[in-house]
Amino acid sequence: VALAMQHLMRSLTIRVLLHVFERTCLFCLCYLSVLAVVLNTNNASPWTNEFDKTELSCLIESISTTNPRIEWKKITSEGPSYVYFDKKISGDLENRAVIREPATLLITNATRSDTAKYRCEVTAADDQKSFDEIVIDLVVRVKPVVPKCSVPKSVPFGKSAELSCVEEEGFPKSQYKWFKNKEELPDDPKTSLKFFNSSYTLSAETGTLKFIAVRKEDAGEYFCRAQNDAGSTQCAAQHMEVYDIDIVGIILGVLVVVVVLLCITVGICCAYKQGYFSSQKQTGNNYKVPAKGDGVDYVRTEDEGDFRHKSSFVI
Ligand SMILES: *[C@@H]1O[C@H](CO)[C@@H](O)[C@H](O)[C@H]1NC(C)=O
Ligand SMILES: *[C@@H]1O[C@H](CO)[C@@H](O)[C@H](O)[C@H]1NC(C)=O
Repeated sequence: VALAMQHLMRSLTIRVLLHVFERTCLFCLCYLSVLAVVLNTNNASPWTNEFDKTELSCLIESISTTNPRIEWKKITSEGPSYVYFDKKISGDLENRAVIREPATLLITNATRSDTAKYRCEVTAADDQKSFDEIVIDLVVRVKPVVPKCSVPKSVPFGKSAELSCVEEEGFPKSQYKWFKNKEELPDDPKTSLKFFNSSYTLSAETGTLKFIAVRKEDAGEYFCRAQNDAGSTQCAAQHMEVYDIDIVGIILGVLVVVVVLLCITVGICCAYKQGYFSSQKQTGNNYKVPAKGDGVDYVRTEDEGDFRHKSSFVI
């Protein structure tokens, strides 16, 4: 029994010692981590629409320094510039941003020029690891403005035509859609029963709608819509007419005939007014003189004389 008790006591002692050792180690680890400043964020790549508010979150996970130095820098292609320094908002965010404790930057009215990387830097002098930083990538989306649309007014049947749509303000870059008589044109006409025979190609990136050869059925009211993550806008519908070259040819032909007929009519009128009658009399005399001198074909002369009398009678 005594031996058994001795064994039990020994194992208990070892257990207690082990436990104490574990506790000490844990404490050491905790102590070491307390001596470091560690940052974290809710969202490393936030986005917002222009004129909205947004939050660049910079959370301090661990720190032991009571009054750390907090700075925000905006990093653009021209290099970093101060946004928050010496406990004040500076630069182009002045009056548009505030700091929410401990280090989060709140932008109250974002503009398109705020799209950039921002760096939150915290210096904690009393910590062993005394500095940490975190980079937030902000995107401010800009709604497209009304696109400039160009639609040809009339295109000859069978010829090519190009409709264009451009919008430069939107961010991210706008994508384009074309509508004919309020119906969206599919990217590929072959995918739709309605547009199956149309010869167009469509680019959502450039906004260009190209017809290789227009058909009568391609005539209609066209408009374009520019769209991105921030919203969409569209231009007013414009009419594209398709005319037949043959009809134009016919109309031209008819016009030419009419003009020619007019000329002839005017010519005849002038001729009548300015001496058709007197020249007729002259020819009559000319005929009469040789007719009398000839004397051979009397019947013919009499006929001519009859004709002359008839003419003058009619006139
Ligand atoms: C945001 O700024 C724009 C232009 O700077 C201004 O027109 C608009 O009224 C501002 N919006 C708010 C909510 O302050
Ligand atoms: C397309 O053309 C074919 C052959 O000319 C015709 O049979 C068909 O009806 C046309 N489809 C449409 C939608 O116009």
